[in-house]
Amino acid sequence: MNVLVLTGAGISAESGIPTFRGDDGLWEGHRVEDVATPEGFRRDAARVHAFYNKRRRTLIDGSICPGPAHIALAEFERQHSGEFLLVTQNIDDLHQRAGSRNVLPMHGELLKARCMLTGDILDWKDDLSVETARPDEPDLVGTLRPHVVWFGEIPFGMDQIFAFAERCDLFIAIGTSAVVYPAAGIVASTPPTCRRVEINLDDTPQSSRFETTIRGKASVEVPRFLESLRAGTD
Ligand code: OAD
Repeated sequence: MNVLVLTGAGISAESGIPTFRGDDGLWEGHRVEDVATPEGFRRDAARVHAFYNKRRRTLIDGSICPGPAHIALAEFERQHSGEFLLVTQNIDDLHQRAGSRNVLPMHGELLKARCMLTGDILDWKDDLSVETARPDEPDLVGTLRPHVVWFGEIPFGMDQIFAFAERCDLFIAIGTSAVVYPAAGIVASTPPTCRRVEINLDDTPQSSRFETTIRGKASVEVPRFLESLRAGTD
């Protein structure tokens, strides 16, 4: 059985990382156009760096850990004999920390930086600024940006994701509002024979495409559902 999982901010919410879509339309007090677009970065790189620096520091300060849903997915992958791909829209590293192996972070990774000149991708835990020099190429100053996908940019791994979606037998979407494309379009690319399961606190615009919709917290519902799959009771 080929299993494709798509996760969003909801799976990390109980670990202490805020989700995106608050009622005020702001993203931790910022307008999305200011901190998550190439234009915003061109206008004010310092502001964008400060935004991601804060999130990066929080991610590594020891207060945030993978939750039961991350752990259950890693355990499921270990025991699963067929193909398994975990696509995440999250830029945290909680799936990797939980032990998931085949993870595709389609919106990039907060703990990586990318050189705008060469395209090189570096592991990165420190703050970034417009004055940051590349440790391996000290002459290159101010060329690093967060290795994250901004609005208007193409997410990573699209070919692999949609090729796998077309031949998957089980698709599970967890903790995503399903309003941001192309991630929200993955469910529509799964074949008619595929079983589709959505685990989320709330209904989403894609909910009607899923045969099974489970409403509740990821920390409770993901381990429960995966265990029922393993036991053959679901
Ligand atoms: P959203 O913040 O849009 O949606 C999070 C979803 O998780 C909502 O539908 C919540 O109801 C649900 N949720 C919250 N807490 C939950 C919990 N404990 N258990 C289960 N579900 C819970 O986040 P995403 O869908 O991930 O993109 O957002 C998609 C993309 O939009 C992000 O990757 C980011 C953002 O703009 C980029 O930055 C490119």
